[in-house]
Amino acid sequence: MAKNKQISSTSWEDYELMDAGGGKKLERWGKIITIRPEVNAYFRSGLPFEEWNNMAHLEFIVKKGQQGIWKNLKKDAPNTWNLHYEKLAFELKQTSYKHLGLFPEQRTNWDFIKKHLHRDDKFLNLFGYSGAASCMARYIGADTYHVDSSKTALNAAKANMELNKLLNIRWVFEDAAKFLAKEVQRGHQFHGIQMDPPAWGNGAKGEKWRLEDQIDDLMSNAARALSPNGFLIMNTYSPSVDLALINDLSSIYFSDRKKEVVELVMSTTTKKTLSFGNLLRVFPSTSEENH
Ligand SMILES: C[S@@+](CC[C@H](N)C(=O)[O-])C[C@H]1O[C@@H](n2cnc3c(N)ncnc32)[C@H](O)[C@@H]1O
Repeated sequence: MAKNKQISSTSWEDYELMDAGGGKKLERWGKIITIRPEVNAYFRSGLPFEEWNNMAHLEFIVKKGQQGIWKNLKKDAPNTWNLHYEKLAFELKQTSYKHLGLFPEQRTNWDFIKKHLHRDDKFLNLFGYSGAASCMARYIGADTYHVDSSKTALNAAKANMELNKLLNIRWVFEDAAKFLAKEVQRGHQFHGIQMDPPAWGNGAKGEKWRLEDQIDDLMSNAARALSPNGFLIMNTYSPSVDLALINDLSSIYFSDRKKEVVELVMSTTTKKTLSFGNLLRVFPSTSEENH
């Protein structure tokens, strides 16, 4: 099978993807080491699980569906702590889902935003959750809109804005696709749009939706809401939305734009490669990057 074109996010001082395999991954967040389930780690781990267990402070144990608990493997495991990325800090916390409120594979997108966004540009973060991308945009001085249909997720993003002593991110508690469609009707445009939709989700009123039903509208409306020199970042994790579909749709809606459609990956310290879904990036038309 031909290998997909890939873009790699890399670990940094405060975060390390240490190892993966056997359906789990081993990560270091500051001084705290965790083990959590990872569906894409279908290969053998670099280190034996006994070594993981000796190192880790916390392990996420699935109880029902997507939910579960963090089990303390050491006495000094905190409930919340902060993690730094460059000049920004983010609050980590043991959630009842298998994450800690930050998605380190997004690092390559934070860097992309830093490179292509400028003070006073308008930036739209759809499905924004932790607000890491919103904090990066606001730190640069962009007029930042952050949309999420979960109050808990919005509160986590607000906590991160406050932790970074930033002000005036525009919080929108709404279904992302509906908000984007309304922005198109209002004739509003953004210099940067990021969207990181889950494979399936709920709107603000609990309505169910699946990405495969929404992706065409999301992409066509994003194309209309993007300023002529703007950029788009779109991550997808849904098995029903493969690289071929993203390629087809992006060549319809961004036919005249520089773009890349790639698999997002991260390498472990033990040299395993873990996939984090697919990534479409449409570049600002003035960008000099090679594609
Ligand atoms: C994969 S997470 C995004 C993570 C984000 N990129 C980050 O770095 O923190 C998906 C987010 O989409 C939100 N969500 C799910 N369905 C939604 C919908 N219909 N409209 C708006 N947000 C939605 C969830 O509440 C969740 O916060």
